[in-house]
Amino acid sequence: MEIRSLDGDEPATIAALLPGFRDTMSLELPGDPPVTEALLARLFQRRHGTERIVLAAYDGGTPAGVLKLGLDLGDPSGPGHGSLWVFPAFRRRGAGRALAAAGLAALRERGRDLLLADAPRAVAGERFAAGLGAELIGESVRHRLRPAGPASAVLQAAAARPVPGYRLVAWRGPCPDDLVEPYARAWSGLEERVNGQARIRRPSADDVRAREAEAERAGHLPHVVAALPEHGTAIVGYATLFVRDSPMADGGETLVLPQHRRRGLATWLKSELLLGAARENSRLALVQVFNDTADTAVVALNRKLGFEADSYWSTYALKA
Ligand SMILES: CC(C)(COP(=O)(O)OP(=O)(O)OC[C@H]1O[C@@H](n2cnc3c(N)ncnc32)[C@H](O)[C@@H]1OP(=O)(O)O)[C@@H](O)C(=O)NCCC(=O)NCCS
Repeated sequence: MEIRSLDGDEPATIAALLPGFRDTMSLELPGDPPVTEALLARLFQRRHGTERIVLAAYDGGTPAGVLKLGLDLGDPSGPGHGSLWVFPAFRRRGAGRALAAAGLAALRERGRDLLLADAPRAVAGERFAAGLGAELIGESVRHRLRPAGPASAVLQAAAARPVPGYRLVAWRGPCPDDLVEPYARAWSGLEERVNGQARIRRPSADDVRAREAEAERAGHLPHVVAALPEHGTAIVGYATLFVRDSPMADGGETLVLPQHRRRGLATWLKSELLLGAARENSRLALVQVFNDTADTAVVALNRKLGFEADSYWSTYALKA
């Protein structure tokens, strides 16, 4: 096995990894639509405020597996966080071990000493992680919802219950110019760390635009619904969703600023978002979101809206 460093923003990287990645996902996530180039481009692109490491194991000229890590540039000694997949035809031949070792070396070179990897909870991953001396440090759940399925009635009912004193504004693609500053200010209230993404300390309008451009480069259209006071111009909450050339879209962030919580805003925002995205994209059949199981508020919200757990994911930590 030869390890090569690849550029996740290069179309040639996506083309090289697509067949193996497709085989892997049809084994690991058999209920998903086939992986498209846009999905892979999104997973491997360098995200705003991060450095991206992509290492591939090659067997002769054929990619056998891949490790991708995102490094937050604002946290110079922080972890590299991502995932490690060995394609099904190449397992139990040391590719996984070789990729983990190369990933740790790449992190050490950059003065970082922790590798975090997310993987569906399964025996292979658990044994592999145990063999490397990795520690299980967290668990996430993947929730899925079919907007036209049984959840539809729940969403319709939630969307029909506005929260008194607030109004919603929805957009697709770039945020309207007059809302970009309030949107950046609301974003700064987001505390949660997202796998492999940077925590932007004081987001500005430029950060908003950079993230929009990043989504567009990978063929993703953001759908956003924001909540504002009825007579004000501040954004006090928002929810985002990313649609690509696939029947499956990805949930993004949902945030309600602390002083506006427990009034039903997230329920209203998210039901409007899901119904609007389904209305505007006739192909959209399925929405997936990943939630930390410790984040009880978001898990409860998603269950209430009709999301169902479909798989549990483990986060392993490996010391360099
Ligand atoms: C886990 C995974 C990366 C292993 O890749 P791999 O290239 O087959 O792993 P290696 O050949 O380097 O195996 C190293 C050791 O891991 C353990 N291991 C790997 N797969 C295993 C399995 N199916 N059952 C039991 N032990 C396993 C063994 O101890 C193995 O050593 P051995 O083959 O000498 O017994 C691969 O199964 C995969 O991509 N799974 C889905 C994603 C995932 O779980 N990633 C890991 C996140 S930490």
